[in-house]
Amino acid sequence: MHAVPVQHATSLLHLERLARFVDPLPIPRVLAPEGLRPDPSQPGRQIDFYRIALAETPVRVHRDLPPARMWGFAGSVPGPTIETRGQEPLLVEWRNQLPSRHFLPVDHTLCGAEPELPEVRAVVHVHGARVPAAGDGYPTEWTVPGESKTFYYPNRQDAALLWYHDHAMGIERLNQYAGLFGLFTVRDAAEENLHLPAGKFEIPLVVFDRIFSADGQLSYPISDTPGAPWVSEVYGDALLVNGKLFPYLDVEPRAYRFRVLNASNGRPYCLSLSNGQPFHLLGTDQGLLPAPVELRQLSLAAAERADVIVDFSQVVGQHVTLKSQAFELMQFRVAAGTRGKPYRPPARLRPVVRIDPAMAARTRTLTLNNYMDGHNGRMLMLLDGKRWHEPVSERPELGSIEIWRLVNLTEDTHPIHLHLVRFQILDRQPFDADEYLTSGALNVGKPVSPGPDEMGWKDTVRAEPGMITRIIVRFEGYAGRYVWHCHLLEHAANEMMRPFEVVG
Ligand code: C2O
Ligand code: CU
Ligand code: CU
Repeated sequence: MHAVPVQHATSLLHLERLARFVDPLPIPRVLAPEGLRPDPSQPGRQIDFYRIALAETPVRVHRDLPPARMWGFAGSVPGPTIETRGQEPLLVEWRNQLPSRHFLPVDHTLCGAEPELPEVRAVVHVHGARVPAAGDGYPTEWTVPGESKTFYYPNRQDAALLWYHDHAMGIERLNQYAGLFGLFTVRDAAEENLHLPAGKFEIPLVVFDRIFSADGQLSYPISDTPGAPWVSEVYGDALLVNGKLFPYLDVEPRAYRFRVLNASNGRPYCLSLSNGQPFHLLGTDQGLLPAPVELRQLSLAAAERADVIVDFSQVVGQHVTLKSQAFELMQFRVAAGTRGKPYRPPARLRPVVRIDPAMAARTRTLTLNNYMDGHNGRMLMLLDGKRWHEPVSERPELGSIEIWRLVNLTEDTHPIHLHLVRFQILDRQPFDADEYLTSGALNVGKPVSPGPDEMGWKDTVRAEPGMITRIIVRFEGYAGRYVWHCHLLEHAANEMMRPFEVVG
């Protein structure tokens, strides 16, 4: 049975009639390992082994709605959290137990989703993980239902909030929309020594948007072109937190640490609290910032993460709503009590040594652009004008440092993600895209340095329109073939993804 997709991005379900803040915020459970297995890279050593099934999973997104059909990991959306420690490797067997037909509109004209291929395919990638290429979840190394793959995660990296998600070529946007993602936390002693709020005072918030049909089922928009349903972007009007619409969380009048992930296909968020109170940003994609940053608004593009402290000690007995512009996401209900001392985060978190641009072995200038695809008359998004199947053009040497200049010729912000590595943002240089397109001249204005909130290690960067975004990357870890792409999943699906190869 196939759900009938609607052609517009507004839920037919009357969201405004749904009672708000009636469901408690679900917290994804922390998964326990199945047991121990030999470490494939260190004979004689035993390491944790996890087994996780990808399967169809009904999810009750709201008290007053029937369960929605979704695809989840180990029976939930988001999947269970994998809690790990830096330097402690582990193995995960990802078992594809999905149905053989997709319930969302597969576009067989897209690269990697050709009609002769199995309709349902899946491969899991841990976003932000430094892993050997064989376990990175290369988009074409998918499994079909009934198969499984075991990947090795060495975890040789700093504490950070990573996340796992499907990456199957040509249908990743549908698989993630269906619910195939979860958190992967890396901890270490340096972070623990800061004594940040922990245990029940550390709460993950996985935010994602969806479109719902009148009967409360997921709906994914389609184009007007018969046989080619791909659409260029999807922005739903129903915003979920940890898989619920408008949940609430009872909190004590104290500081909480929230680990926030934007797991949307495309929607960016601008998070704030309804009472206008400030909060502290402690970390971003790849871990802690050098120092906390006080913010009243937090921008989070698709795939970005934020490590945030919210102090409820001064709002005893009040209700505070988490918002993104006009949207209400969830409510915090602060218990009654006596007002305590305001929370002061540690003044220093973790040093982030800036990489000296003079150390770069080379600088690559790479365009981000939209093209009209003559062949089927729709937009095609390319990285440096190249399609997925063209030969690998970015071949950095293992251990070398490079500067990548992302020249955005479009009107969109593209969250650009590189697998394997972490990087720093150097700056954003304004330039004239029209001039470049007509004459090839790249005249660059005064560079804009990243704010303190972008001074940490990143794995996804907002390449803004009218800007050349410069990142500096050390290609450390492993040699092999990985990918880089726009994390607007609809863009990535229509060729805004390229291989790169670290040469050892
Ligand atoms: Cu979130 Cu290619 O990854
Ligand atoms: Cu990734
Ligand atoms: Cu994009």
